[in-house]
Parts: sequence; C-alpha cells; structure tokens
Amino acid sequence: MKKVLVIYFSQTGQLKSVLDSFISKLPDKDIRVDVRTIKPKKAYPFPWPFYTFFDEFPEAVQMDGCEIEELKDIDKEYDLIILGYTVWYMSPSIPITAFMQSAQAKDIFKNRPVVTVVACRDMWVLAQEKMKVMLKNLDARLIDHVALTDQSGSVLSLITLPTWMLTGEKKYFSALPSSGILQEDIDASVRFGKRLNYALKNNEEQGSEAMLKNLGAVNVNAKLIATEKIANRSFLVWTKLIKLSGKKYSLGRKVTITIYVAFLVLLVLSVVPLNIIARKILNIFQKEKLQAMEEHYEFPSGR
Ligand SMILES: Cc1cc2nc3c(=O)[nH]c(=O)nc-3n(C[C@H](O)[C@H](O)[C@H](O)COP(=O)(O)O)c2cc1C
Repeated sequence: MKKVLVIYFSQTGQLKSVLDSFISKLPDKDIRVDVRTIKPKKAYPFPWPFYTFFDEFPEAVQMDGCEIEELKDIDKEYDLIILGYTVWYMSPSIPITAFMQSAQAKDIFKNRPVVTVVACRDMWVLAQEKMKVMLKNLDARLIDHVALTDQSGSVLSLITLPTWMLTGEKKYFSALPSSGILQEDIDASVRFGKRLNYALKNNEEQGSEAMLKNLGAVNVNAKLIATEKIANRSFLVWTKLIKLSGKKYSLGRKVTITIYVAFLVLLVLSVVPLNIIARKILNIFQKEKLQAMEEHYEFPSGR
C-alpha cells in the first residue's frame, strides 16, 4: 500500500476545492491518501477588513510565519506529499510559510518527493521560487508543480481579486468578470490525481522525472515575470517602511499602509499600462529569451 499525504491551507475554500478534485481519483485499494489542513492559532478574517488585509503584507513578504497548530495523526515516510498553497503578496501564504519553517515539517518532508499545487490570482512564479528554497532546506525533492489561476486574467484580477477578498463577493462589479478560478479548471484537476495513481503504481515517484508532464500543469507568461520582479523589489522597500512605522495593527502602520495603497493604485493606473505597452514592443525582439524563461519557471512539470 502506498501512502500519500496532502497538506494545505485554504481560507475561502478555493484551494480546497482544487485539491478535492485533484485527489478524487487518486486513492484506491493500493493507495491511501491522508489529508491534513494547516490551522493558524488565530484565524484570519474573511472578508478581510481593509487594514488587516494590508497589515499582513510585511510579514508575508518577509516570510515571518504565524503561530499554527501542530498536525495530528501523521504517519511515517509517506511515498508522496502533495503540498497545496496559495500566494499572499507574491510569497507562499503566511500559514504555509509557518508550517514549512516548523520542526514538524523537517520530519515529514525529509527525502520525500513533493508535488506543489498553487491556486492564486495570477502571480505565483516568485512564490514558487521561495517555496523551492524552503523545500530544499527540508531536504525534500520537488518532483512536480501545478498552478491554477484566476479566470479574470492578469489585469482585471488586479481589481476583482482584492474586491473579492475585501467584500467576500466574487462578482462585486457586474461589468467585470467574476473573481476566482473557473469551475471547469477546478473540475479538470482530476486528471492530475488520475495520472499520479498510475505513476505511483509504477514507482515513478522514486525517479527524478516529473510525473505530470503534458497535462497542462503550468503555463507561465514570461511577460509577467518582469512585472513580478519589479513589484517584488518595491515590496522589499515598502515592507521595511511599514514595519519601521509600528507594531502590527498600530496607528503608525495604518498611516504608512494608507500611503502605500495610494502609491499602489497610482502604480497600477500609470506604470502597469505603460509597462504592458513597453513589454509588447520589447518582446518582439526577445522571443527566444522569453521562451527560455518560461521553460525555466515551468520546470519540472511543464505545459
Ligand atoms: C493577503 C492576500 C494576498 C494575496 N496576494 C496574492 C498575490 O500576490 N498573488 C496572487 O496571485 N494571489 C494573491 N492572493 C490570492 C490568493 O492566492 C488566493 O487565490 C485567495 O486567497 C483564495 O484562496 P483560498 O481561499 O484557497 O485561501 C492573495 C490573497 C490574500 C488573502
């Protein structure tokens, strides 16, 4: 009997539905699947109050973690671990980061093959780079990566995702598409579990080749990577400023957060459209470089 452990943190339940579909055809008489949820000791509110949403920004980017409960009923030496996470400010969510930095994760992940599954708005590339480092620190072996993103696309989701998080409504503006991952995409994730069922029966998890190739596991848009990198650099400066201005939820932080949000809105309205136009022109001359970049970030599972 092979044993698979699924670990995740999902706040609204979106990532949970992705994983439910993903693993629906994975267990059978030869494969057991244990599912465990990361639980922060202090739950995050949903919908998010405005300042609480932005107050988590420095801790997410600087990967400070939070207090979490220990996972119960964990077996020894799973054959495969499926790690589901969402992205908060281009980093793995705070509860997942806390878990990956815990002593318990050291025991569970050591020498284990891991499939990471991301469900987020649109920007997961740098979060996955941070996840790779955390997995390496645990001596785990990343074997596959699957990423599902928002149906409203990279530009409109800059409005629809925060609106969903702050109001709790996926379709707050009737003129804009709904936020969140398409139900069709969630349902279609069943293909990954089916493939893993076959792969585990053939001991593929013990090799070094990805098991989820040619299944549309990831689709990196190289044009977004430059934007992620620029945003990440500004994140590093702003998170320092916000932390310097006071403790969590203090008035000092609220003031700096207000200035930051105003800066962010201006940035989205001005630099983002200019950046899109500039990139479109530059991309004509950089096709090969962009393709190589996409392949790099789509590794190991690919399209
Ligand atoms: C505080 C916060 C920050 C977020 N930042 C990002 C981000 O930088 N990139 C992204 O693609 N999605 C981002 N999201 C969206 C989440 O990755 C995820 O799609 C959403 O929270 C729903 O997931 P869940 O209900 O399964 O937890 C953020 C969500 C929250 C709550």
